[in-house]
Amino acid sequence: MPDAVMRLDKFFSSQSILSRKETAKCVRQGRITVNGEPARACDQKISPGRDRIALDGQEVGFKQHVYLMLNKPAGVVSATEDSRYPTVLDLVPPELYRKGLFPAGRLDKDTEGFVLLTDDGEFAHAMLSPRHHVPKVYEAVLDGPVGPREQELFAAGMTLASGEVCAPAGLRVLSGGEHPLVEVTLVEGKYHQIKRMFGAVGRRVEALKRVKIGGLILDKTLQKGDCRALSPQEVEAVISRIL
Ligand code: URA
Repeated sequence: MPDAVMRLDKFFSSQSILSRKETAKCVRQGRITVNGEPARACDQKISPGRDRIALDGQEVGFKQHVYLMLNKPAGVVSATEDSRYPTVLDLVPPELYRKGLFPAGRLDKDTEGFVLLTDDGEFAHAMLSPRHHVPKVYEAVLDGPVGPREQELFAAGMTLASGEVCAPAGLRVLSGGEHPLVEVTLVEGKYHQIKRMFGAVGRRVEALKRVKIGGLILDKTLQKGDCRALSPQEVEAVISRIL
């Protein structure tokens, strides 16, 4: 639910459109209207979602939360801060940055691919809960072949060396050879899970990339380190499945 009332400058900064200072300037210049009337002051109270706010005549919609698709490169940690390595937040451009952003689910430092960043705690919690079985799809390069035996073990729910039991997982060979490319589908996220699952069948993961979360496929056009906002339709598609 949108806040009941909010200062005009907070509204613009929360939407990553204008800083508080810029909002004050735009108000003075008469570029902002509230329900068709010129805004009176930058601390004017408005009701996001109810009042019609426009900048230069363009109506500004209100988004309570942000949801970003990041193509994480290797060497970056899935955390909000780290003393040694760059974090996924360091890759978010200023125009998409919001206070309270965090990664909804972790990838290892050396794993690449799809990380969903959001400031919506309820959504992240639901998405990560094993109860919701949101599938995450990974591509892995292995140090040797796998076949029907490994597929059956993954499908049955593997027991790791630690004794932990995994939920049933999918394993598909995408291209064979000495260093096959395989696709793994998980509905949970145990620590180093894929590496440990392959370790349990005598294989080593040489490269790992997450390519899909739920129904969302990592954009092929998103370069490593790039980030984009999910469209309202994409957000709706994910949220309607889990909340
Ligand atoms: N499994 C792993 O081993 N590492 C990841 O980063 C994700 C899944």
